[in-house]
Amino acid sequence: MTAQRVLVAYGTKNGSTAEIAEWVGAALREKGLDTDVLPAAEVGDPGGYDAVLLGSGLYAGRWRHDAVRLARHHRQALARRPVWLFSSGPLDASAGERDIPPAPGPARIAARVGARGHATFGGSLTEGARGFVARQIVKQGKGGDFRDRERIRRWAHSVAAELAEDSPEGPGG
Ligand SMILES: Cc1cc2nc3c(=O)[nH]c(=O)nc-3n(C[C@H](O)[C@H](O)[C@H](O)COP(=O)(O)O)c2cc1C
Repeated sequence: MTAQRVLVAYGTKNGSTAEIAEWVGAALREKGLDTDVLPAAEVGDPGGYDAVLLGSGLYAGRWRHDAVRLARHHRQALARRPVWLFSSGPLDASAGERDIPPAPGPARIAARVGARGHATFGGSLTEGARGFVARQIVKQGKGGDFRDRERIRRWAHSVAAELAEDSPEGPGG
């Protein structure tokens, strides 16, 4: 029996989505999946994976370019395997209170690659964030860390459960 290979790829500007991706990867490994976590720009070919989870921080309703480019360049490989998307953004508690639908950018990507699901997680913007607007937001006290590690872990476990259903060995295999 070989474990399914899963890729978690991400786009980030300020690093918080990279951490989310690491948490997702750790949760998938807890369920026995052989998981790589990589910046989207470092992904050569997602074709070697059984499933792909792709996410990005949101900037003006869009994903970071690296993540968009990965989805575009490897559209066919992604369309042939199970794919889930995640966005991190809201700088308030909203993502924990209701399911926030994908912004227009990730919604288009989801349609293009036939994603099985999309999750919006709370974002983070703290001291040292890059960019003028980011620094203004933090200065005005409107930043903070709204990522919920436990919710992210539960979401990753739900993805692992779906993959287990798909596997020839069946759930648990
Ligand atoms: C200029 C700017 C624009 C942003 N636009 C959005 C947005 O459209 N939607 C959203 O939910 N969050 C938005 N955010 C919040 C970021 O998505 C959030 O800080 C996220 O965690 C950043 O991810 P990163 O650290 O991986 O770059 C924005 C933040 C900045 C600084």
